[in-house]
Amino acid sequence: MIATLADDPANGATNGDIPLLQVRDLGHSYGSRIGCRDITFDLYPSEVLGIVGESGSGKTTLLSCLSGRLPLSQGTIHYDTRTQGLVDLAALSEAQRRLLTRTDWGIVHQSPRDGLRMAVSAGANIGERLMAVGARHYGQIRDTARDWLQRVEIQPDRIDDLPSTFSGGMQQRLQIARNLVTGPRLMFMDEPTGGLDVSVQARLLDLLRGLVDDMNLSVVLVTHDLAVARLLAHRLMVMQGGVVVESGLTDQVLDDPHHPYTQLLVSSVLQV
Ligand SMILES: Nc1ncnc2c1ncn2[C@@H]1O[C@H](COP(=O)(O)OP(=O)(O)OP(=O)(O)O)[C@@H](O)[C@H]1O
Ligand SMILES: [Mg+2]
Repeated sequence: MIATLADDPANGATNGDIPLLQVRDLGHSYGSRIGCRDITFDLYPSEVLGIVGESGSGKTTLLSCLSGRLPLSQGTIHYDTRTQGLVDLAALSEAQRRLLTRTDWGIVHQSPRDGLRMAVSAGANIGERLMAVGARHYGQIRDTARDWLQRVEIQPDRIDDLPSTFSGGMQQRLQIARNLVTGPRLMFMDEPTGGLDVSVQARLLDLLRGLVDDMNLSVVLVTHDLAVARLLAHRLMVMQGGVVVESGLTDQVLDDPHHPYTQLLVSSVLQV
């Protein structure tokens, strides 16, 4: 049996911690169409929260709201900043929000093309994030970029290659390196292993688990793949029709689903 992050008592919420993210009654509507609504949860330091649900259930909408790329139609998000403590994200200036996005947060997009700059080299993709947080020394930036390429299992001598010359799995790993290089505390990931073949997926998952562990990352992970959720997530929220229909510890939700939709989700995977 494969050990999961949830098996490790050092991971996940410990009582007494202050949540990194506090989300209350969050909702977003596209005109009259509801994207998601009434979403409430806390995310603790070093915790991985999985969001699962069928296509169109509101997962990406929720992630976009959390990462500041979509305005809220309803509710609040509070974030525990390094310098000011708990702040209401809606009250931040655009400049403060951009700084958070560049330093404290990382966003891994489902398609690497949305998360990488395809017209500049792999090294520049990593270096750009470093320069955004003040790095200026060219030699050091290149050394750090090389180091990160190695950490995500890309040959450091590919540093001057364009991402378009990388395979899908390599592009996804480069996207992860670009995000992690600034030592973020919170990562938003939308289907990080989507579109990859099974063996590449397994390696990427392994790598992600190691990095999440090493860096004490908190992660909001959107996936339609329950095996990915089981491997990475401590807790799960199951979405259907824009709302959360069930939530709890990953093993509890998957081994003893209560809501009929979760039961269907779990049983349909078992039948494959
Ligand atoms: N830009 C948009 N304009 C209008 N409606 C949208 C837009 N984006 C999403 N929606 C609607 O919001 C709802 C939730 O969509 P969302 O993309 O969040 O689902 P999802 O769970 O991420 O689906 P998938 O698994 O297919 O990526 C759907 O009804 C969708 O049609
Ligand atoms: Mg989506």
